[in-house]
Amino acid sequence: MTQDELKALVGRAAIEYVPAGTVVGVGTGSTVNHFIDALAAMPVPVAGAVSSSRASSERLAARGIRVLEAGEVERLPVYIDGADEIDERGFMIKGGGAALTREKIVADLAERFVCIADASKRVPVLGRYPLPVEVIAMALPQVARRFAALGGVATQRAGVVTDNGHPILDVRGLAIADPPAMEAEINQWPGVVTVGIFARHRAQVCLLGTEAGVQTLRY
Ligand code: 5RP
Repeated sequence: MTQDELKALVGRAAIEYVPAGTVVGVGTGSTVNHFIDALAAMPVPVAGAVSSSRASSERLAARGIRVLEAGEVERLPVYIDGADEIDERGFMIKGGGAALTREKIVADLAERFVCIADASKRVPVLGRYPLPVEVIAMALPQVARRFAALGGVATQRAGVVTDNGHPILDVRGLAIADPPAMEAEINQWPGVVTVGIFARHRAQVCLLGTEAGVQTLRY
């Protein structure tokens, strides 16, 4: 199977985690695009979706799914999203699609985070994938220097501005042995909007697309 076929497999499998008639949290990316397509084909439609990006909102609306603002709901039963890396504890790196801040906001509303990913995303230790960090523009140099002090090399993602109007730093060379501690530390740095470590908002379930089918991992 191609990587995209594995993404489609888990995108469809995630439907099982969506209670019929509820409002669901929807992430961003090519795996989630498959999930949105499957959501639109549900026999009992969802009441709506809270989306983590303009791109997902547009795709949802184009398929006839009502898009609600985060502020219109208090809780969501589930948030379904992809990941750039996921470790053995359900900790993730996210933000490859530059939607990390809204992803964390919507994940925070949800009872449970179901990660959908092809098998290449599973890693023993986070950090091979460059860590995305959304930053207020005026703080870019000083945030980059802080990463250098940790042994990381931060580069501004070319031509990318988030839905919130901010640039992204991609940080290479970090071995993230303690994701909760590193997330908490980076979140304290002035100018950091969101770091793409999802430890506090880790996955409770991961549907992993493998050649043998969907593997369900629980954390
Ligand atoms: C977007 C994300 C995505 O979930 C992540 O980049 C995975 O994307 P894809 O499903 O296209 O592999 O965090 O900000």
